[in-house]
Amino acid sequence: MAYENSPHYIEETPGIKHYCTCGESENKPYCDGSHDRKNTGKLPKEFVVEQAKRMAICDCGHTGNSPLCDGSHSKL
Ligand code: FES
Repeated sequence: MAYENSPHYIEETPGIKHYCTCGESENKPYCDGSHDRKNTGKLPKEFVVEQAKRMAICDCGHTGNSPLCDGSHSKL
């Protein structure tokens, strides 16, 4: 498992979230601690979701608006 060339679309709920930025989580888009076990040098992105909504979470590792997809995957 690693980075993908498309975002994760999720129906997100309010709360503090920790999204994977290393591409190695087995529970994408959320961090499962794999970044540490695999020594990726990456840390999860903490993000506060204020209200329930559909979100596109980056999984290519190139977004300039982490944790949200900004379309960078389409330029790779
Ligand atoms: S598993 Fe990827 S940032 Fe934690």
